[in-house]
Amino acid sequence: MYPLIRNRRLRASESVRRLVRETTLTPDDFLVPLFVTEGKGIKKEIPSMPNYYNLSLDHLEKEVKELWKMGLCSVLLFAKVEDHLKDNKGTEALNPNGLMQRAIKTIKNACPQMLVMTDVAMDPFSSYGHDGIVAEGQILNDESAEILAEMSVSHAKAGADFVAPSDMMDGRILTIREALEDEGYTNTGIMAYSAKYASAFYGPFRDALDSAPVDIADVPKDKKTYQMDYANRHEAIKETQMDIEEGADIVMVKPGLCYLDIVRGIKNEVEVPVAVYQVSGEYAMVKAAAEKGWLDHDAVMLEQLTAIKRAGADIIASYFAKDFIRTLG
Ligand code: PBG
Repeated sequence: MYPLIRNRRLRASESVRRLVRETTLTPDDFLVPLFVTEGKGIKKEIPSMPNYYNLSLDHLEKEVKELWKMGLCSVLLFAKVEDHLKDNKGTEALNPNGLMQRAIKTIKNACPQMLVMTDVAMDPFSSYGHDGIVAEGQILNDESAEILAEMSVSHAKAGADFVAPSDMMDGRILTIREALEDEGYTNTGIMAYSAKYASAFYGPFRDALDSAPVDIADVPKDKKTYQMDYANRHEAIKETQMDIEEGADIVMVKPGLCYLDIVRGIKNEVEVPVAVYQVSGEYAMVKAAAEKGWLDHDAVMLEQLTAIKRAGADIIASYFAKDFIRTLG
């Protein structure tokens, strides 16, 4: 009780603050998203994501070597697929010599210890920009899950350590786990996007991959029939528990900052590592405000990343990973 207890004693200097700090960030917390594109010598900045790039495989090789040197040891791969290769079933995703499969091999050759996780989703490969097959204005569930399972096996064959299904079809974790088991990939992990919300914060990512749902008749304009309603909390726990029962090794909440109550709720309920995806729109907002001189970039970034970890994130997928390392000096 005051005056015997004065809380400010523990805030009196940077040294004592360091001593009692509950949450600290390290390079080990980060999973680095990378966007790969076809071609050679390409390092193309994504307009809505300043200082973030679409990389051709030669640049990808340089990038992962640099990340490894910086102490970052895990990446999450996304492929930007050329328009003429897209169709309703995401057929190109299963091409053993497709961009994603070559990207996995490129990384494993350049930097064998780098942990490679791959995005398993149809939208970058879909002519409609959806995470499932479109039929009569609907997104088919079980048929799409089968494709995701084949995609997962194809990534595992190419050398992926983990597959990361980001689609939100029901039952896809079980379908994927069974397919991996059947093909002998018992050591390939699954990081499930378990509580993925239908969010407006994915805008810049869809620019990067040119993967937004198309605006044509009989194609749903948004992803609200599969991604979660952002008004819901209990449903996130249910989704996550089901994914764990189906064989997910790591579960994820996405986006980050607006969903920290969900992160804490899940962290309190489950015994597997919890990842949080700080998404493209969250990155873009900080960059834009900092460019205008309205916010201190590094201070806001560190506050947000620390908040995500404090809420319960064991892993943070973030476009700020390299910016964070830079702050370590
Ligand atoms: C799609 C996918 C999305 C993101 C990761 N995987 C976008 C979407 O669901 O439309 C978003 C990531 C980000 O915004 O940084 N399967």
